[in-house]
Amino acid sequence: MRSDLTGKSPIDFEMLKHYVDRIASSKERKGTLNWNEDEECLELVEYVTEKNKLIEDLKIECRNLKTAFTETILKLVMAAEFKDNSSSDHVERVGKFSSFMARKTGFSDRDCSNIVFAAAMHDIGKIGISECVLYKPGKLTAPEYEIMKSHTEIGADILAGAKSEVLQLAGQIALNHHERWDGLGYPRGLSGEDIPLVARIVALADTFDALLSRRRYKDAYPVEVAVEVLKAESGKHLDPNLVSMFLNDMDEIIELLYEDDIPPTKQYDLSQRDRNVNLEGDCF
Ligand SMILES: [Fe+2]
Ligand SMILES: [Fe+2]
Repeated sequence: MRSDLTGKSPIDFEMLKHYVDRIASSKERKGTLNWNEDEECLELVEYVTEKNKLIEDLKIECRNLKTAFTETILKLVMAAEFKDNSSSDHVERVGKFSSFMARKTGFSDRDCSNIVFAAAMHDIGKIGISECVLYKPGKLTAPEYEIMKSHTEIGADILAGAKSEVLQLAGQIALNHHERWDGLGYPRGLSGEDIPLVARIVALADTFDALLSRRRYKDAYPVEVAVEVLKAESGKHLDPNLVSMFLNDMDEIIELLYEDDIPPTKQYDLSQRDRNVNLEGDCF
């Protein structure tokens, strides 16, 4: 009767019933029971204790797997960043803003947790872009721009065939995060709601945080300037519904920013690109 206790089997209700029946008939026979001495009681306590231990072991195993999974994703993101020279703060904030917007647009709790990591992987495909193109200080030639654009498909190829929900989301994001609401984006020139919602969310989060971040071609802009650019790009680059939701929730967005201690930007020059409020070109 005890053989199942040697393996890591789940709670066996037949076994449980057996112990309870034994205790019930023993109680009937003796009139009273002592949980610390009667064999029937001790067997049940031992059974439950072992199952509790199994549950605790599984919890620890689950935590370890989750940590290993999270760390693997973050290390993969770091590998791409290392090559791209963009900051880890940027990808973390893109994850955070995207998850925030995902919650507002009705994604499940599980998806929102996944999107933190999936969004952080948006530029994973840059791993496959040559340094000559990636680090070129000036404007890219047309063929170089084509190479740069291929980071979307490279990212999707890296993530293709993944079984986990988070990597499947990451694949959608990597492929579609440069599509534009007006259809002028890449790689497929999708427009409007043909672009997966999660990719439209990440495009917004990525654009917003890129505006607040210093890059080799631009200063970091203050929130007010970033907001003006988002308004100007609403319905062009960005999903207008998402932009208005984002701007309505700006107080919460700013709270998320302060979590990261972003110092308020005072001195800046608008880059040529942003003077024209055109996020094409240098924004990869
Ligand atoms: Fe980015
Ligand atoms: Fe990108």
